[in-house]
Amino acid sequence: MSSTTDASTGRAQISARTLRTDRWWLPPLLNFAGLTAWVAYATVRAFQQDNYYVAEYGYLTPFYSPCFSVGCIPEASHFGQILPDVWWLPYAALTLPFLLLFRLTCYYYRKAYYRAFWLSPPACAVAEPHKRYTGETRFPLLGQNLHRYFFYAAAIISVINTYDMVLAFTEGVGLGSIILLINVVALWAYTISCHSCRSIVGGRINNFSKHPSRYKAWVYVSKLNAKHMQLAWLTLGTLAFTDFYVMAVAAGWITDLRIVG
Ligand code: FES
Repeated sequence: MSSTTDASTGRAQISARTLRTDRWWLPPLLNFAGLTAWVAYATVRAFQQDNYYVAEYGYLTPFYSPCFSVGCIPEASHFGQILPDVWWLPYAALTLPFLLLFRLTCYYYRKAYYRAFWLSPPACAVAEPHKRYTGETRFPLLGQNLHRYFFYAAAIISVINTYDMVLAFTEGVGLGSIILLINVVALWAYTISCHSCRSIVGGRINNFSKHPSRYKAWVYVSKLNAKHMQLAWLTLGTLAFTDFYVMAVAAGWITDLRIVG
């Protein structure tokens, strides 16, 4: 260990919190504001139990898919109604926890909220306020290693969202069905760009030349993976916008722009 490092903490022996002079605090601040606003909106909508389905055009918001509660509009329940209708249980309570865990354990979001909420550390070369650092070696952060399994769950839920979108197109084409389509494409791009997906596609082989199709898939996933942060934010935007649009049409605030049907 160099003489400029404190052997007991592994940290640089400088009294200043950081020597950085740039606006290092801006990204964690923006992440804090963006993630807080999104979680607040999603929580309100998930528990609202209203304005989630437009029967006329078959629009179902992703926040209520699949709609498993006995309180769901029957046409919106494509996979049955097995949950009780109580105010504290979101209608899509069987899938929302997996989507939440998928995002919570995502490599990018971990970086974002460790910095923005726990200041651990708030940015590169900026000391964190905590005295001890145990990383992800103990409960509950040890659970971050389950990300790969949440990826499988999220992929299944993306298939369900795709099915919802296709059903909407069977009713014709409107701005709403196009918004559902854009959201599904963005969700697939985010899901496929997952680091676990990249490792599943290209891992556990010693020689790419013997697995040309997996190599091709790995190259494709790797290209998407380089945009994972952008796709993480894009999908937060498309999810909220899609939900808001369906709510606005379902509530009668706006009428859907119809192109066909
Ligand atoms: Fe972000 Fe898997 S690493 S979704």
